[in-house]
Amino acid sequence: MSENLADVCRYLSHGVYVVGVASGELRHAFTAAWVMQVSFNPLLLAISINPAHYSYQVLQAGGVCTVNVLGQHQYALAEHFGRSGVTDKMAGFNWHTDQSGAPVLSESLAYFDCKVSHYTDAGDHKVAICTVLAARQLQHGSPLLYGQTGTMDGSEKFYQDAK
Ligand SMILES: Cc1cc2nc3c(=O)[nH]c(=O)nc-3n(C[C@H](O)[C@H](O)[C@H](O)COP(=O)(O)O)c2cc1C
Repeated sequence: MSENLADVCRYLSHGVYVVGVASGELRHAFTAAWVMQVSFNPLLLAISINPAHYSYQVLQAGGVCTVNVLGQHQYALAEHFGRSGVTDKMAGFNWHTDQSGAPVLSESLAYFDCKVSHYTDAGDHKVAICTVLAARQLQHGSPLLYGQTGTMDGSEKFYQDAK
């Protein structure tokens, strides 16, 4: 049994997603686990994003994003898009666009094409509430789960001062 916050929080179930962002010609993407549906009608998703991420700047400037669902076999993609300071992070992958113009990861299991409705503050993160413009399944398969990524996100250090 553990009372370690990082260990206990891993019992909260999340999927693993690549969030694609765009502003004009600029495209970028990052790995996110803190994504959830928050309304049926209109269909809304909430994405919790650290405002220090480069992706946040692009999201704020462009106001559009995609949520791309990773499959069990796509651990390496979660790792790749979870790195910061990578120049040309999008290179070597196939992307397309739907209505918003944000990049859709063509090999994802499914995607949601979104427009930011508004932001809300959540402690050290910002939560982007996003209206879904289009959604589509692209492949069959089971989603990768956050718990299966172990310590990939290096989040243990953020719990040290948590109350
Ligand atoms: C499995 C996993 C889940 C993550 N979930 C989130 C998340 O929900 N929100 C967030 O802001 N960052 C999350 N991150 C961290 C970002 O992906 C990471 O900091 C990334 O480098 C940010 O990219 P950028 O600075 O190029 O925008 C996660 C990372 C991993 C590996």
